[in-house]
Amino acid sequence: MSTAVLDMPTSTPTRTAIVPIGLDRIVLTGFMGSGKTTVGGLLAEQLGWRFLDLDHEIERRAGRTVPQIFAESGEQHFRRLETATLVSLLGQRRVVIALGGGVPEELGNRLLLEQTPRTAVVYLAAEFATLIERCRKQGIERPVLADEAIAAERFARRKPHYERISGHRIESETAEESVRAVLEKLAGRG
Ligand code: S3P
Repeated sequence: MSTAVLDMPTSTPTRTAIVPIGLDRIVLTGFMGSGKTTVGGLLAEQLGWRFLDLDHEIERRAGRTVPQIFAESGEQHFRRLETATLVSLLGQRRVVIALGGGVPEELGNRLLLEQTPRTAVVYLAAEFATLIERCRKQGIERPVLADEAIAAERFARRKPHYERISGHRIESETAEESVRAVLEKLAGRG
């Protein structure tokens, strides 16, 4: 049975994949709804690496949820926490990191990602309509999705950044397909 990109996996074998040579971390980027968290979790499990979700880590450190941070302290404050947390996660080894959708919009974050050695950045791509539909189905509160027209503008603005910072682009229907595609690309077979 295949896992829809945003459903959590039910059962997955552990450490079935060969760790890509020369890499210490795999970073997943893409807009909201691209499946970064689901794919990242599965990928980490197959590699026997740790999975780190940037939003969860921000929430853990702040002791507040992302929507709370946006509502109480504003987006700029959230972006500062996001960059500080990104720096710290990029210092870890043998990790798969799922970024938040807005990370590549900040020049400083793009430079950080480009300059961190032994790091593969992978873009999980999909059309805007598909992403929005997945997010709606998922039902998670996302402040940035409150206004769909503004979200569409953000998507258009970010798309070239997702593409430019990534060494690999994946466009798959299911999480399992995405994991397979990432591993193939990183092994140079994709
Ligand atoms: C955001 C995406 C969210 C989260 C925050 C802002 C964005 O992460 O970081 O709500 O600006 O696109 P996901 O992409 O994991 O939903």
